Amino acid sequence: MSVEGKNRIITTQRLLEMKSKGEKIAMLTAYDFTSARIVDEAGIDIILVGDSAANVMAGHETTLPITLDQMIYHAQSVVRAVKNPMVVVDMPFGTYQGDSKQAVSSAIRIMKESEADALKVEGGKEVIESIKRILSTGIPVMGHLGLTPQSIHKFGTYSVRAREEEEANKLLADALSLEEAGCFAIVLEKIPAELGTKVAASVKIPVIGIGAGGGVDGQVLVMHDMLGLNKEFSPRFLRRYHDLRSEMLKAFRNYISDVRSGDFPNDQEQY
Ligand code: KIV
Repeated sequence: MSVEGKNRIITTQRLLEMKSKGEKIAMLTAYDFTSARIVDEAGIDIILVGDSAANVMAGHETTLPITLDQMIYHAQSVVRAVKNPMVVVDMPFGTYQGDSKQAVSSAIRIMKESEADALKVEGGKEVIESIKRILSTGIPVMGHLGLTPQSIHKFGTYSVRAREEEEANKLLADALSLEEAGCFAIVLEKIPAELGTKVAASVKIPVIGIGAGGGVDGQVLVMHDMLGLNKEFSPRFLRRYHDLRSEMLKAFRNYISDVRSGDFPNDQEQY
């Protein structure tokens, strides 16, 4: 797909090709225009407008409260910014689980109003009817298995999923069902690396991991976490690429001090 004025170089076809050539896929979240533009400039393959916006943008404890309207707002801001990467938008909790008709109308709203490229849906066989209905409208769907944060109240904890054989077998069966249904990729969150490798080897579509080890086809991180903006969130899978929180604190403190001392603005900083 090529959008006028944009040059989406990452398509579902390109992602399949990347998997078949063993080229790793890099995905990051973004929720706003300015950071999405920087992530695009850095050369990312996929931007996920994650419902983790509920946590890192809005301060909720879980991803459940974010609404369809709020996800559309974030998606619009990101789509306005980016040229090259594929933009995938999370379908928020409560907009696709119960009723596949509702799933289609939610999906169509996101795609029409944001002009994103694809959607991500959490869950396996339980939501397969919704996924199939969405796919039947021509909207590409990325699956999400393992730790699925929208089901946190069912799990009761954010600990590693599918350590036991029964859950691991279900996860593999779900991945095969998502592939068969026509999903173009699957995110695997917080599962044993061995299982991540097995799933990636069992499906032809790309498998993108977050805490699923190095044997999958790509990786995704939440931007705020990898930039070191959250001191509190420190799972083993998280590599922090910066300590932006400290940098920001320093800048804010310097500004406050300059205002209070009268150093800012100086003669060159006024009209
Ligand atoms: O919402 C999100 O950011 C996600 C990633 C953790 C994969 O779903």
